[in-house]
This record gives sequence, C-alpha cells and structure tokens, in this order.
Amino acid sequence: MRAKIVAGNWKMNKNRDETEQLLTELSAKLPDTDAEVIVAPTFVNLDAAKSALESSTIGVSAQNMHFADSGAYTGEISADMLLNMGIDTVILGHSERRAYFDETDELLAKKVNTAVDKHMKVIFCFGEELEERKSGNHFSVVETQLKNGLFHLDGQAWKHIVLAYEPVWAIGTGETASPEQAQEMHAFIRKTIAEAYSSSVADNVAILYGGSVKPDNASDIFSKPDVDGGLIGGASLKADDFVAIIKAI
Ligand code: PGA
Repeated sequence: MRAKIVAGNWKMNKNRDETEQLLTELSAKLPDTDAEVIVAPTFVNLDAAKSALESSTIGVSAQNMHFADSGAYTGEISADMLLNMGIDTVILGHSERRAYFDETDELLAKKVNTAVDKHMKVIFCFGEELEERKSGNHFSVVETQLKNGLFHLDGQAWKHIVLAYEPVWAIGTGETASPEQAQEMHAFIRKTIAEAYSSSVADNVAILYGGSVKPDNASDIFSKPDVDGGLIGGASLKADDFVAIIKAI
C-alpha cells in the first residue's frame, strides 16, 4: 500500500529561533498518525530542524538542491551536503523555482537523476497555470512536465519518487482545486504512469495535492481515492493548522 504523506513547505519563512519554536510546538502536538509527516525549512535551518526533531518521527526535507556533486556553483547546495547533514529528502520542481528561478524540465531531470542516484526521496512538484486550465490544456501540460522531468527513469527508480500536483493558480491564493478537480487530475496522473510503466508503479507512487490546503478543506481533499496527502505551504507555518491538516488524513 502506498504511503500517506503530509509535508510542510516553509519556503523562505522562519528564522532559526522561530524554526526551533515551531518544531518544538509541532512535536508536542503531533497526533498519532500512520501518515509520514515532513517539514521543509530553509537550507540554513535544516541543521536546527534536525536537532529540534531528534526524538520525533517528523522528517526533514530540503526545498531544492543542485544537480552537481560539488564545484564552482556559488550559492548552491549539493545532495552530498544534505546527506551529510542527515537530510535524505528534497523538494524539486516547485512552481516558484520554475517561475522565479527559471528551472526547466531539463534542469529538473538532472536534479532528479542526482537525487535518485544518491537514494534520496524526491517530492517532485508540477502543475498547470490558470491560463492553461482555462484553455483546457491542463492535462497535456501536466503530462509534459511528468514526461520531461521523470519518464526517463526506470521503474525501479520510482520508489524514490513522491509526486506533488500543485496547480499554480491555487498556490498561496486561497483558491483550492475542488476535491473533484484534484481527484480527476490525480487519476489522470496515475493512468499516465500506468501506461508508461505498469499499474504496480502507478499504484505505489504517492500523489500529494498542494495549493491552499487548509484545516477546513483538507478532509474533503484527502478523502479522494487518488489523493495520498498534501504539500502544505502557508498552513504549515502554524502548528495548530498543520496539526489539524495531519489529523484530517
Ligand atoms: P500554499 O502553498 O499551501 O500556501 O498554497 C503550497 C505550496 O506552494 O507547496
């Protein structure tokens, strides 16, 4: 059976003190759950997060990394640096990285390869923009992002992949995809993977929904059969909200 996952993408929020405070509160309030709970603070606070969560089941993820092992890439972070800190999960392809930092499918494919080679878990994000949905192109956009970013992998490598479908129009906007829209797209994604690989690869990959998931809409979204959890931005920055979303799964 595939994993249920609730991951918090903190983006460029929380300094070191705030990171420690939020994680102390989160650990204390964490409900009993079968779901995997992950937080992704900014690079400089990953170490503090690991320490704060030493005796907790909450996992820590990076929000990005470079594809190269090392070298002249000023300002970048490698997979080996993350692994050496005990971080074996990374978010790749977030729409903010694609939009503001020009990350292309081709670049992301390289990052995915590095992560998979190093046996890291990848939370791979993708999703259409508002115009693409309005013009009815959302399925083909998503299919292209999946194919270009991931479909060069062999079936075995998919055990390292978690998908996060995040329609760009729903991120940070307060507008969520309806549970039906999420289910429709998640089912399409699973069918596309089944056709490219096999039903067992498709059935085993967790597909998270992201985009304005809040305590009051999480249960409806998570109740859909192909939605295996959420990638949570804004609502992961408050312990009570994030805990309520974890309870919803
Ligand atoms: P949001 O962000 O929950 O604030 O919409 C989701 C994300 O960007 O992963």
